[in-house]
Amino acid sequence: MQEELDAIRTRAEADIDAAEDLDTLEQLRVAYLGKKGALTSLLKQVGQLEPEARKEAGQAVNAAKEAVQQRLEARREELARVALDRRLEAERVDVSLPGRDAEVGNLHPVTRMLERIEDLFVAMGFEVDQGPEIEDAFHNFEALNIPEDHPARMMHDTFYFDDHWLLRTHTSPVQIRVMAEREPPLRTIAPGRVFRCDSDVTHTPMFHQVEGFVVDEGVTFAHLKGLMKDFLQRLFERDDLPVRFRPSYFPFTEPSAEVDIGCVLCEGTGCRVCKHTGWLEVLGAGLIHPNVFGYVGVDAERYSGLAFGMGVERLTMLRYGVDDLRLFFENDVRFLAQFQKGA
Ligand code: DAH
Repeated sequence: MQEELDAIRTRAEADIDAAEDLDTLEQLRVAYLGKKGALTSLLKQVGQLEPEARKEAGQAVNAAKEAVQQRLEARREELARVALDRRLEAERVDVSLPGRDAEVGNLHPVTRMLERIEDLFVAMGFEVDQGPEIEDAFHNFEALNIPEDHPARMMHDTFYFDDHWLLRTHTSPVQIRVMAEREPPLRTIAPGRVFRCDSDVTHTPMFHQVEGFVVDEGVTFAHLKGLMKDFLQRLFERDDLPVRFRPSYFPFTEPSAEVDIGCVLCEGTGCRVCKHTGWLEVLGAGLIHPNVFGYVGVDAERYSGLAFGMGVERLTMLRYGVDDLRLFFENDVRFLAQFQKGA
């Protein structure tokens, strides 16, 4: 029996040393130490021996089992270590490779222009207010001195929900809301989205405007001229930018004007963008009509006001030399990525 035991043990140890992976090792454990394994069945035979031989034989088989068990354990650890080494080698990171830059996003050019306009007016002591995009006809038209049958209503290409509710066609209704809520002196700008049922190369159904107004005692057209000139020269970062006022008409201002700047693309010599006039129209403005004050309960005898409104996409196109309005809404990253901060 001792001989058989030695033979099994030698074979087991050789098998274990030759095993190349954990599965094979497990098969060997079952073959030698499992319920029907070689050493287990040998142990069963011990029971049939003479009592005096039994003890010694039992100890010998158990010692062999123990030794095989240890050998299995040692080999398992070795194989695990080899497997780990192999994995580490395969997954090694080459720290000398150049890094991959994370792409940095940036603000939309229209957003940047809006923030710029806000900053300039805030620096001049203006507050920033917002009104609802879904407006009622009273604030969008009526209180701005545009009664029901007024031709200006037709010109606004309004998206109506019903007789009462509509998508605001301009940011001027914010004037009405602020004046109705707060007492003069008032100095406010109102940036935001506006909507018109209009779509072609130079018009989109949604675009952005900034409205602004001042109400105080003794506000004059001279204040309006100075404010607009100062603002536009700062916006385009040119002290010598020519600014001119042309008489115009808006129902909510009297007198009214359209404000032009010298063409920033051709320096006034004439190009396609300024239609060879050397001038670009950038703003509507005027002194607030006394009828408007009447709607919101401002005393027109005591106070006067100036107001202005501008289209943000147009100013953005002029500042960055963008010649197609639709580029702002296509969200092509190749276009948008050109407007990194500092550009
Ligand atoms: N609301 C006008 C528009 O959408 C722009 C405008 C013109 C606003 C003159 C004003 C203003 O406050 O005084 O075309």
